[in-house]
Amino acid sequence: MRYSVDAGARHYYAIFFFCVFAIGRVSHADETQHPPAVAESLADAFRGRLKIGAAVEPAQLTEADGSLLVRQFNSVVAENAMKPADIHPREDTYNFAPADTIVDFAQRHHMAIRGHTLLWHKRTPDWFWIGKDGQPASRELVLERLRQHINTVVGRYKGKVYAWDVVNEVIDASQQNCLRNDKWMQVVGPEYISAAFRDAHAADPFARLFINDYSTHEPAKRDCLVRVIKGLLADGVPIQGVGHQMHISIYWPSVSSIDSSLTAFAQLGLENQITELDMSLYQHKDYRPATSLQQRLTFQGQRYGAVMALFLAHREVTAVTWWGVADDHTWLNVGNDVPGDDQPLLFDRSQQPKPAYWETLRGRPL
Ligand code: G3I
Repeated sequence: MRYSVDAGARHYYAIFFFCVFAIGRVSHADETQHPPAVAESLADAFRGRLKIGAAVEPAQLTEADGSLLVRQFNSVVAENAMKPADIHPREDTYNFAPADTIVDFAQRHHMAIRGHTLLWHKRTPDWFWIGKDGQPASRELVLERLRQHINTVVGRYKGKVYAWDVVNEVIDASQQNCLRNDKWMQVVGPEYISAAFRDAHAADPFARLFINDYSTHEPAKRDCLVRVIKGLLADGVPIQGVGHQMHISIYWPSVSSIDSSLTAFAQLGLENQITELDMSLYQHKDYRPATSLQQRLTFQGQRYGAVMALFLAHREVTAVTWWGVADDHTWLNVGNDVPGDDQPLLFDRSQQPKPAYWETLRGRPL
């Protein structure tokens, strides 16, 4: 049989369309097994139930992390820019520009903003403790400086920052009174905490005010935090919630210990927020991995799925904030005593979703 040009063309068209169809089927089948590279928005998936946040430095906003942030998150917090020593380095000098950059970006993209933090022993600038004559500052002077600081910072972002970590890491379960024996305790005494909350409330009565800490799943620490908060509530101090930093690992803590802790604060009638979530692939300070990277990433995904399911089961948990956007920028890789290859977040160093992302998303409310 002679092969006409038309018949030949039809033959090639048929082969071409068959291939397109077949490739389409294969790639469709692939999508169901391996999720597509461009992921849907976490923020959309949890909208109306949880705010989905990330900590950022201003420089990240113009980089790849910035576009990922806008696509996937609807809340931000400054990783460093609002800490007292960063935003108020000298008594007469505020450094608002980095924090303003983050706030302006968030507003442009209709994102919620958490404020971190108004008081932290690690980032209280030295000038707080020195009096005009070079002598140690008096209790009254320190409290007045705290009031001025809080009034200025909270006042500047009034109506923009919806929640503040008023005090950070003030609990120490090894102390009889449960409070860290730092400069604040030594110079002011325990009243510095209530003063900070009252000052913040005076500066923005609509801001939600949190006490923020790490390892809140540890029973001794949790019980101390409960005791301190009960005291604050009894004194009529304006406090609305507990911030759980949640710097955890694929190996610890147990999900049930987190559950017990969230329950304890829910029973006090408080809001719980997860404020600094990340999940290390290592044991605490033990950097010899027990299993392959692939296994640990898979396990990380499962653990993220489990903790997200727990957060969703707690109606009083209103926001989950990761301490970073993607694995290219995480505090866990900073310093000489760490390997520098930890991958604690939902997106990898190239901003691609990890198993952790898909397992987190899987728990979305129906
Ligand atoms: O900005 C300076 C830079 O100018 C300088 O060249 C460089 C040299 O070391 O230091 C830079 O500052 C560092 C800053 O991070 C920004 O990178 C500080 O030294 C460093 O101490 C600071 O670390 C931050 C740490 O808090 C202390 O403020 C981390 O980024 C930040 O992730 C970490 O966040 C804390 C939370 O606030 C509270 N909970 C624990 C969490 C992790 O430690």
